Amino acid sequence: MLQQMTLAEKLGQLTMISLGGPPTGPVADPATLADVAAGHVGSVLNLVGRDRIATAQTLARSTRLGIPLVFSLDVVHGYRTIFPVPIGEAAAFDPALWQETAQAAAAEARREGIHLTFAPMLDIARDPRWGRIVEGPGEDPWLAARFARAKVDGFQGADLAAAGTLAATAKHFVAYGAAIAGRDYASAAVSAGSLAEVYLPPFRAAVEAGVAAIMPAFSDIDGIPMTAHAALIAGRLRHDWGFDGVVISDWDAIGQLVAHGVAADLAEAAALALNAGVDIDMVSGAYRRGLPEALDRGLVEPEAIDAAVLRVLALKERLGLFEAEAGPAAAAGPPASTDAAGRRALARHAAERGTVLLHDRSGLLPVGSPRKIAVIGPFGRDRGGGADRIGPWAGLGEPDRAPSLPTALRARFPEAEILSKAGVDGRRPGRRGIAGAVAAARAADLVLLCLGEPADWSGEAASRAEPGLPGDQAALAEAIFALGRPTVLILTGGRPLIAPTVIDRAGAALMAWFGGSEIAAGLARILAGDAAAGGRLPVSWPRSPGQLPVFFGERPSGRPYDPDNPFTSHYLDLPNAPQFPFGHGGTPGAFALSGLSVTPEAVGPTGTLSVAVIVANAAARADEAVIFVFIQALKALPNRPVLELRAVERVALAPGETQRLTIPLSAAALDRLDDGAGPEPGRYAVRVGLDAERSRHLVAEVMLGAG
Ligand code: BGC
Repeated sequence: MLQQMTLAEKLGQLTMISLGGPPTGPVADPATLADVAAGHVGSVLNLVGRDRIATAQTLARSTRLGIPLVFSLDVVHGYRTIFPVPIGEAAAFDPALWQETAQAAAAEARREGIHLTFAPMLDIARDPRWGRIVEGPGEDPWLAARFARAKVDGFQGADLAAAGTLAATAKHFVAYGAAIAGRDYASAAVSAGSLAEVYLPPFRAAVEAGVAAIMPAFSDIDGIPMTAHAALIAGRLRHDWGFDGVVISDWDAIGQLVAHGVAADLAEAAALALNAGVDIDMVSGAYRRGLPEALDRGLVEPEAIDAAVLRVLALKERLGLFEAEAGPAAAAGPPASTDAAGRRALARHAAERGTVLLHDRSGLLPVGSPRKIAVIGPFGRDRGGGADRIGPWAGLGEPDRAPSLPTALRARFPEAEILSKAGVDGRRPGRRGIAGAVAAARAADLVLLCLGEPADWSGEAASRAEPGLPGDQAALAEAIFALGRPTVLILTGGRPLIAPTVIDRAGAALMAWFGGSEIAAGLARILAGDAAAGGRLPVSWPRSPGQLPVFFGERPSGRPYDPDNPFTSHYLDLPNAPQFPFGHGGTPGAFALSGLSVTPEAVGPTGTLSVAVIVANAAARADEAVIFVFIQALKALPNRPVLELRAVERVALAPGETQRLTIPLSAAALDRLDDGAGPEPGRYAVRVGLDAERSRHLVAEVMLGAG
């Protein structure tokens, strides 16, 4: 094939154009179906609808070489049926669920003609000012690696040519989440050590799982934009890790190398990206317009172009596009609909499992049989507001078919009267509606106070310097709390929302994230006690933007905080600890851990430890405990974080049940997560707890021998 291709046809294979959807950036090189017909396009994003896709594919197949197009879309947390946003799904700490929802999304999208998704997003995020924290699995690299495997397996299945699969794209390679001060598109502030131990491991896991594509981040590391980062793309990714899939630039990112100040023109930009190992140019036109000149100027070798083309053709081969006339895309049957009962049920299950009970200070859950429920706040409106339930990057999700909380409550509490009043706007100040909301709440015997941030205040280009409750929501909350009615706060959002007083003052508080198509039904069941709020926080929940970044995996200080010694690491005006630690959630006081033993006490590098712990459910209802196993290397140079997550187990317990749980932990798990030479011999602490708060951990020590 390669020998028959002209340069323009080769560059066409390296060109991805957008044929629909709202652009997420400038469109420097607008392209049309005429470019497809001319054989100058290899892949398309944002074109949806079976017929439109089929038309474009027919055009591509009628070109001189007839090479089919790859159709791609951000299928991030669902296609039609929308599951919780990734941070909310991560809260379920359930790899089987992560895989299943990806599978369901792939099944819906592929039958509509989509071949490739720009997911999973694997950016570790420790600063909720960064809006894209919503798109990833949170703050921890071990968890993110687990998430990466589950998502890649779920999207891709065993065979990308099979129906119901999508080629996955691990993004954004790498350290995009380390954007300075949480400002999207800013330079990443990252050390070599945390690059290796925090930001890269999830991508290595995706590569090991066979991910088809990787997307470099918009950001730079030490002045080298990731789109031009030869050491990390050609070096780490391809050479060291053996990645043989395609690297797809982010939106216009090759053209933006000029704005980054590393290229003088499009030819230089294209050469930098190609030589770094970027195969596909998403919408900038730099490859088709800049590479011919780059060749003339000797900035690139023809072989580099050929190698990229071969990788693109290999992806098309892997997707089975050369085989069938119209590919598996043209599956028969009705278009995907959110109503498919199985997917609805899965979406509800995922919503319940991702929702986090932040506290239940007043013991309000389950709520019993209230006669009058007032749903107060801009995120509990009876009509509209569906976009804030399905959240950002919701594919072809249908906001109007994500029932509202009042609707779901009417179905679950048919005897109760349900009132709903927004009170204030979810983004802008204005207090005129507060009096009406207070009147409604006064008449109720249960108040559900639905506050948060709107979907478009979360995601790309949605950084917030003060990621709390926008507008006058706090004033509404104060007015409602002043009534002294039993009040459950239900938060909607894509990040931990910094609103410590409002959260504390509620009788109980739930974080529902943007929980997807079925979040309202899930919440109704949680309130009724049919289901537990199964989530645990995949991120530390800060008290103040002044603490950011706040995360559990800090390195040790030479002066760790000691309340009796002022010259230790602390703030004068705030505690160091977040409002809620990573892992926090679940029915307060339900579970107790005891009797930790880790055996054998000494282990060689190829051995396995057995971590045994007794878990008791003291509550009056069946529930699942989530148990976290951390390690701490007690001496290492460079030193290692004070806590490193290495295992998470969910255990279902009947009321009053006690179980002895045994978790195998290979000695290799004592290693750093980088590409290093294996764990250093020495003493390690194994710390087991229900969250990352160290003072509550059970601790055992083991000795790792040299082998
Ligand atoms: C985002 C990517 C996304 C792409 C295509 C960009 O703006 O950064 O994550 O996949 O747009 O929609």
